[in-house]
Amino acid sequence: MLDDSEVVSQFDRNYARPVSEGEVREKVGLTYHHVNVDDLEHDDEFNKLKKEMGITYQDNVVISPSSMPNYEDKLKIFFCEHLHADDEIRLVKDGSGYFDIRDDHDNWLRIWVQKGDLITLPAGSYHRFTTDDKHFINAIRLFVGDPVWTPLNRPADDHFSRLEYLRKHPLNVVHAY
Ligand SMILES: [Fe+2]
Repeated sequence: MLDDSEVVSQFDRNYARPVSEGEVREKVGLTYHHVNVDDLEHDDEFNKLKKEMGITYQDNVVISPSSMPNYEDKLKIFFCEHLHADDEIRLVKDGSGYFDIRDDHDNWLRIWVQKGDLITLPAGSYHRFTTDDKHFINAIRLFVGDPVWTPLNRPADDHFSRLEYLRKHPLNVVHAY
């Protein structure tokens, strides 16, 4: 079971400040598209978007207590701050959840994703995921190239993807020594 402090930190909808889509794109490189998920196979827009993004692989994941053995343990892993060598691209078919990503001040930005939201968290960005209080999300995982889902938990500051990410999205943090 999650203890109370973890539950509060994951499900408090009010701890993040409101930000615009443009600010998120500029400061952390997160991109967003809306997709009509009711008829995906015949959605020309979605197929065009996948082509533009270079998507070569996709699969489906359902995160909920009934679909996922060891749901609470999995949530703890998803909620541990990490990065990947590749972009993390998700399209929500149903349900909802939270992606948190570090901004240029190393504070959390919280993105509440719902049906039809397609987001890309850039390679090298520190982030984490959790379900919301409905405990259900059905999402398509999209990938460019061979799918590698390996999370590298923070600190992974010397990883090539982190260094590359920081070149495009420098931190605006003053360290006191
Ligand atoms: Fe991730």
